[in-house]
Amino acid sequence: RTTLRGDQVIVVSNREPYIHEKGPDGVIVKRPASGLVTAVEPVMRACSGTWIAHGSGSADHDVVDSNDRVMVPPGHDEYVLRRLWLTPEEEQGFYYGFSNEGLWPLCHVAHVRPVFREADWNRYREVNQRFADAVVAEAVVEDPVVLVQDYHFALLPAMIRKKLPRATILTFWHIPWPNPESFGICPWRREILEGMLGSTILGFHTRFHCKNFIETVDRYLEARIEHEHSTISFHDDDTLVESYPISIEWPSDREVATWAPVDVCRRNVRERFGYGPDHYIAVGVDRFDYTKGILERLHAVERLLEKHPKWVGRFSFIQVAAPSRSSLEEYRSFQDRIQQVTERINKRFGSEGYLPVHLLAEHHEHAALIELYRAAEICVVTSLHDGMNLVCKEFVAARDDELGVLILSRFAGAAREMPEALIVNPYHVEECADALEQGLAMPAAEQRERMASLRASVREFNVYRWAGRMLADGGRSRLRDRIQARL
Ligand code: F6P
Repeated sequence: RTTLRGDQVIVVSNREPYIHEKGPDGVIVKRPASGLVTAVEPVMRACSGTWIAHGSGSADHDVVDSNDRVMVPPGHDEYVLRRLWLTPEEEQGFYYGFSNEGLWPLCHVAHVRPVFREADWNRYREVNQRFADAVVAEAVVEDPVVLVQDYHFALLPAMIRKKLPRATILTFWHIPWPNPESFGICPWRREILEGMLGSTILGFHTRFHCKNFIETVDRYLEARIEHEHSTISFHDDDTLVESYPISIEWPSDREVATWAPVDVCRRNVRERFGYGPDHYIAVGVDRFDYTKGILERLHAVERLLEKHPKWVGRFSFIQVAAPSRSSLEEYRSFQDRIQQVTERINKRFGSEGYLPVHLLAEHHEHAALIELYRAAEICVVTSLHDGMNLVCKEFVAARDDELGVLILSRFAGAAREMPEALIVNPYHVEECADALEQGLAMPAAEQRERMASLRASVREFNVYRWAGRMLADGGRSRLRDRIQARL
């Protein structure tokens, strides 16, 4: 709060932090499955201001307050949520097309070919301009602090800079940044880089992504790069390129007090699936996305059962897969493939009253996920590539009993901060199967040692640390500007 006293804060993201829907007994408010929302929402509650987002999930415009503005969180009214409604054509080109068929596979090395269409690019530019205009309209001072979130808005920083030259623009890229060769296939690479360099600060999860970005600029733009200070000067503007590893809000004692005890969670979940108290459970919680390594995980479960038949009938893997971007063919065929593989494994190893894999392809609210995390022996995160991944941090935060084993992909940004996890290469089925076996057999004392250390680090490097560092760097830049203006 101190850093922001007196400053106007505006957040821009595609995904809205709350979804308002009409239900049979009035308006229902939901939280979307999004790492971005998990991280930015608590920060916004702490500093208030305005969050501008695409009203993607809230299909019923009329349940939102007048002027497309609503105070959130419901019942607490801590900040304004301002929605922009996109036309179906805009949503198709901007969100599904350029963002998720182009930039998403371009930045994630998951071996899905990016698709670039001129029409999608045009929609992307137009929608970025609409959001830039909304930021300008919301600004009540000439130097607001604007927090631009993610790859949907690469052009926004330069567009805002044009209208509000004194704004402090802090852009955070929530997904990886690839090497210059990979990024170079984008037909509009120059425009994207120029758009991003309108930022005062450009944040990535890891130093490695910063390095890739700086090398990409070096390759494709005429810009001055100061490697020592990690700054890029382009058209008289300086951008600091820095790593800010994102995290979660550490649960408060008040929240933890609302959780059922671990043994109750264990019993509830096992009863729900028809198992006894000694049944072993591993969980995976993801958006239903091809970057998350869900297929590789299923192969590892299958291999475990093949290699160690003692687990057949005694161990199940529960995969929560929140439907995501399902109008894209790539996502639909991926979801079908996962269904088929699940059925095949269940046919091969299942029996009356026993399924090795439970695929729950639906959205789960936070409380339901907490129960699952607390009930499981193992949480499996096997992303093929991930900017950070917050599921692993949520799992650790849920385990105040200090038990449970985390299996974590070396290709998730989080692997750099969580070496106490069993770190795996998700492409190596044998290694992942062995990690499952190791996790299932791990003595409680070793689990405690690893989990206590993981918890201490996530508690300390929580989301306020992430936002605080970025805002403090932004604050320093504002101060420098003010001093210069006086000279
Ligand atoms: O964290 C990366 C991210 O792409 C966010 O930008 C996004 O909100 C989240 O994953 C979920 O994706 P989507 O908003 O497309 O459902």
